[in-house]
Amino acid sequence: MSRVTATPTGSAVTVRAPAKVNLFLELRGRRADGYHDLETLMVAVDLADSLTVTASDGGELALTCNDPALDSSPANLVCRAAELLRQRTGHGGGSVMRLEKNIPTAAGLGGGSSDAAAALLALNQLWNLGQSRERLAEWAGELGSDVPFFLLGHAAWCTGRGEIVESLAPGGPLHFVLVCPPFGCPTAEVYRRSRVPDRPRDGTAIRRAVASGDAAAVGRELFNRLEAPAAELRPELPGLFDALRRLDPLGVALSGSGSTVFAVARDDSDARRIADRITQPGEPDVSRPRVHIVRSVA
Ligand code: C5P
Repeated sequence: MSRVTATPTGSAVTVRAPAKVNLFLELRGRRADGYHDLETLMVAVDLADSLTVTASDGGELALTCNDPALDSSPANLVCRAAELLRQRTGHGGGSVMRLEKNIPTAAGLGGGSSDAAAALLALNQLWNLGQSRERLAEWAGELGSDVPFFLLGHAAWCTGRGEIVESLAPGGPLHFVLVCPPFGCPTAEVYRRSRVPDRPRDGTAIRRAVASGDAAAVGRELFNRLEAPAAELRPELPGLFDALRRLDPLGVALSGSGSTVFAVARDDSDARRIADRITQPGEPDVSRPRVHIVRSVA
């Protein structure tokens, strides 16, 4: 399953929280609330965090994480998701939450958003709240624009600020090589530097390519309007694009607001070939990015 799915283990509930890549992202307008109206095609992939929640006495919410660099204060989206769920349902229970982080942060892979979706789903089950995914997704938009996708989509066409989710059925699995630089891209700053085009790019062709499972067409139709502002902010990115393009994948794009650059591969062995060569010492110094071979999950 690509969407977050809950598995009860005794009194604990464990949820897998997948990453996503954006195969298309176009800006349609700047809004009065500071956000952008956009159109994006997102696909969940099999690189995932894992969240385990257990009930606690006394109404306390506590978060721990295998990554000591992660902020596990109440400001973390997982804690904010738990608080939101309690507010909306009036539930007074607490929880001890353990997050195993595998998805790089500030990488354009939706890790924080997926963790928040996982928290809503896991606590809904742990606390027996009986809320539907659709209801959770309505609430989730206020945590972040991408959070509803992780509750509703395997692959989806997302509009509004990203929170309006129309599920798509991919025609087949897609293979990607994710190249995650050792730096992140601050989302708000990338959007701030972006420009809404006079003539926006149309997403019909990429939707058709995903629906038919045509990886070559997906590779040809990849597009991300945030590529230019992200490259302006992180001048290392164009070199990474070039290095990946030289390896002859089906296509290369930035995911979300970056910093991850990904290649579409023909199959598993093509993905391994690209991953092996991008990590070879002969390639331009991109300060040792982390490379992940992933598939879309259905
Ligand atoms: O929704 P989220 O919290 O992920 O957004 C982070 C920031 O990215 C926003 O504060 C906003 O500056 C920018 N953003 C935007 N338009 C969107 C989504 C995000 O301008 N559709």
